[in-house]
Amino acid sequence: MMSDFLEEHSPFCILSVGSGEGYNDLSFIEMLSKAGGVKPNKPQFLERAIEPDKMKLEAFRVKVENLPENLKSRADIELEWCPMTYQEYVEQKKKDDVKFDVVHFFHSIYYVVNIETALEHCVENELRPRGVIFSITQDGNSPYVRYGKVFSSQGFVLSPGSYYSNTDVTDVAKKNGWKYVECSGETTTCDITAIFDPSSVAGNRLLDFLTQWVNIRQTASQESLQKILNFWENESFEDGHGRKVVKFQTKTVVIFKGI
Ligand SMILES: C[S@@+](CC[C@H](N)C(=O)[O-])C[C@H]1O[C@@H](n2cnc3c(N)ncnc32)[C@H](O)[C@@H]1O
Repeated sequence: MMSDFLEEHSPFCILSVGSGEGYNDLSFIEMLSKAGGVKPNKPQFLERAIEPDKMKLEAFRVKVENLPENLKSRADIELEWCPMTYQEYVEQKKKDDVKFDVVHFFHSIYYVVNIETALEHCVENELRPRGVIFSITQDGNSPYVRYGKVFSSQGFVLSPGSYYSNTDVTDVAKKNGWKYVECSGETTTCDITAIFDPSSVAGNRLLDFLTQWVNIRQTASQESLQKILNFWENESFEDGHGRKVVKFQTKTVVIFKGI
């Protein structure tokens, strides 16, 4: 039973990498505490949040001070704030520090620089025996990830980590012989019609996001820009209202330590 499990692991320790404003972190704790059912004692959670953007961390802190009643009545939550990058966190990590039941990367593994060393560090130095890693990323077949693969060989991808997907995570798990499961996440539809209009400010911003490049319209050659636009044109489909849309899907990978 989940409630017994939470009682045995009290406080239930979570390491959140790239927590942002903590929206998904609190939903995750709420989900765990709901799965625990009603018990006389509320489950205790200790979360360490690593987030280099101090404004986001402050927004998360304010949220924790004003938790909604339904979460406050279900769980006792203590937070440790780490205003730093994951890399800085690993450098200052002490051997006898707390070990965690869960390490999660909710859309943040893109920033760890080397996915293999990051996951190995978590399994060896952050997780308790039988702890788990949760990673949420884009699906390997998503057009966004395909863009990264096609264009990195052409020198258009500044940061290959931005395009990490579930398959990069499972490749590391397979290489290390770790048990893992994969689950499909949410699918979102994105209207990219505006990226084909050079005068659209929103379209140019979206094109910069999709290519992870600042002012790509101004900085790329005409030939390269055309290749990029052709790629997105081919990936898109008409939605029946004259709009060009693409679908993005997320995937969750759960890695189990020691089983
Ligand atoms: C796409 S957001 C995801 C935020 C949150 N986990 C969520 O699910 O909403 C990625 C977060 O990672 C943070 N980040 C960027 N570089 C990082 C690094 N080197 N180490 C840790 N976090 C980083 C960003 O500031 C941002 O808040």
